Amino acid sequence: MFVRRIAVVGTGYVGLTTGACLASLGHRVECADVDALKVNRLRAGQVDILEPGLAELVAEGRAAGRLSFVVGARDAVADAEVVFLCLPTPMGAGGAADLGAVEAVAAEIRDVLPRGAVVVCKSTVPVGTSTRVARLLGREDVAVVSNPEFLREGSAVRDFLHPDRIVVGSDSPRAAERVAALFTRLGAPTVLMDAASAELVKYAANCFLAMKLSYVNAIAELCELVGADVAAVTEGMGRDRRIGRSFLAPGPGWGGSCLPKDTHAMVRIADSVGVDFQLLRATIETNHRQQRRVVDKVRREVGSLVGARIGVLGLAFKAGTNDLRDSPALAVAELLALEGAELVAHDPEVDRPLPGMTVVDDPYAAVRDADAVVLLTEWPAFRTLDWVLVASLMAGSTVLDTRNHLDPDALRRAGLVLRGLGREP
Ligand code: UGA
Repeated sequence: MFVRRIAVVGTGYVGLTTGACLASLGHRVECADVDALKVNRLRAGQVDILEPGLAELVAEGRAAGRLSFVVGARDAVADAEVVFLCLPTPMGAGGAADLGAVEAVAAEIRDVLPRGAVVVCKSTVPVGTSTRVARLLGREDVAVVSNPEFLREGSAVRDFLHPDRIVVGSDSPRAAERVAALFTRLGAPTVLMDAASAELVKYAANCFLAMKLSYVNAIAELCELVGADVAAVTEGMGRDRRIGRSFLAPGPGWGGSCLPKDTHAMVRIADSVGVDFQLLRATIETNHRQQRRVVDKVRREVGSLVGARIGVLGLAFKAGTNDLRDSPALAVAELLALEGAELVAHDPEVDRPLPGMTVVDDPYAAVRDADAVVLLTEWPAFRTLDWVLVASLMAGSTVLDTRNHLDPDALRRAGLVLRGLGREP
């Protein structure tokens, strides 16, 4: 295997995972960030991102002298054969991806890139961005490649090292081959294509996942109305290999730093070429509806939400992360607060104050005197709560489990009324 000198610009969860994993494959990697504080912490071996296995990989890479950190992109790329751009592309005006960071870095590094370097866009970027970056770089000798990431927060290291596939797209087949060769040791199927197709793959995949989830949430609603059980329905559906069993768990809606942003960006991409992507707009609307549906269910339990005390279990957008970006749990909490509910919330990984609720560091403090409890994030620790104690602390007796995560027998034995999604009124 060729050992390459690689620069990774941006040390968020994608950049740091990419850098640490590429170093673990034997490459020499320098990671850059504009945030000097972050770089200093990483140099001191401190990893602030909650990502299983990442801190260990960073430590290994540093100890082996294969992984280093620097402030600013220019220093990192000066000696690099391949440069990965792992920069934020937040939702900008009207839902389109904001490419400010990508464009700023392209402009910053164009005159220091070594001859023949390859620049790789890993950030999720609209179709045509590789071409735009190539234009900004204005270097005939530097090729631009799109290599979208498919990492999930909370399992990013595993997803990187055991990918279902690696997608590499470029209008320069030689540059695409060079980037694909970096991952040879992973032994994963590699799909080579043109740059526009690779850029679209990422959106097409994330939007499909969002659609699958909205679909299953809509099926869950139907289940409640016709007296069916969504667990049985998804089990029966998912056994069809064309459908697959994953991403079929109903919940309070999908969220996080990617699916909401990418679905909106895709609607905009379609708009920009004159296509009204109705299916995707319905996917997004179904997600909002799901959050409202959870609020309706809580209201039904307590009569009126005005002045009702609601214990909230879980705030992160999914278990295994402390990320609150576009968290459906927060969206539901906000709607409950808007209707006058008094919220006391607990999440094992969130301890900062949040508007509209009291955040407590103990789940039992969250349920104390609650008229109803709503579980919004599927943390394993919630399954093993002492439900007899919970029942004795609550004022009411209903627990709404929006992830169908809790053990119904344990709650029944404690005398609690368990409501779920897609399995009873
Ligand atoms: C998502 C994709 O899964 C990754 O492949 C992609 O690389 C990443 O976005 C990205 O674009 O960077 P992530 O945002 O980490 O990953 O979260 P997911 O695990 O996909 O979960 C998204 C949302 O769907 C969460 O709110 C989760 O609770 C919800 N979900 C997921 C369900 O409600 N039910 C399920 O069965 C699965």
